[in-house]
Amino acid sequence: MRVVRAIAELDVAPGSGLVPTMGALHDGHVALLRAARVENETVVMSLFVNPAQFDEQQDLAGYPRDEARDLEVAEREGVDVVFAPATEELYPSGFATWVDAGETGAEGAARPGHFRGVATVCLKLFNLIRPERAYFGQKDAQQVAVMRRLARDLNVPVEIRIVPTVRAADGLALSSRNARLSAEERDRALALPRALASASGAPDPVAAARASLNGLEPEYVEVLDLGDAKVLAAAIRVGSTRLIDNVLLEGEIR
Ligand code: PAF
Repeated sequence: MRVVRAIAELDVAPGSGLVPTMGALHDGHVALLRAARVENETVVMSLFVNPAQFDEQQDLAGYPRDEARDLEVAEREGVDVVFAPATEELYPSGFATWVDAGETGAEGAARPGHFRGVATVCLKLFNLIRPERAYFGQKDAQQVAVMRRLARDLNVPVEIRIVPTVRAADGLALSSRNARLSAEERDRALALPRALASASGAPDPVAAARASLNGLEPEYVEVLDLGDAKVLAAAIRVGSTRLIDNVLLEGEIR
């Protein structure tokens, strides 16, 4: 496995499978890496905590970082190239061109500027690595919708693949933010996956999920169209931790 930090040294042939990450790898990322490993001859993983997508500075400062462990996981999962640039490599002084991600639903409204940062960094990664496929987790459903629209609208020749959400044994969707929950908060957070799962068959899934959140006030509950699939998505705050999740309503995750 090669670890590349400079764009000038990134001589990956076009047509790889790209797994963009911000590190702090968990089993959700492992599922992305495994999907990419099965479908591509060369697998590239990017490892870059993208400052442009953090709407809260405190969130950026507290973002978990453990590069040595992330590299071990990548190596174990058969990644060929890890692209781990410094911030100045992707955002050199004078950087001023941004991708406007357009309409980004309730998740975008709750996180001003977030999808502009995500769309900009991902387009840069697509341009630098020129992958045939890029892998994103279903948990970040609005991010998937943004990526599919970006590829279509800007004619980026990449297939956006969605990998189903990986959950802990108690049902909570895996996220690097889960580590911030106390045991009591984690217990309360379980209302989110439970409410979404029980509402998915209801005639009005949004109302049904809202009604079964056990007193947790959602930031939003909405139906999101991912093209091949519709999902029921929601965000809650438990203590100071913001969690998102979604379940399939119709169609197929692929
Ligand atoms: O989902 C993430 O971890 C990030 O938003 C991504 C896609 C790596 C872009 O920074």
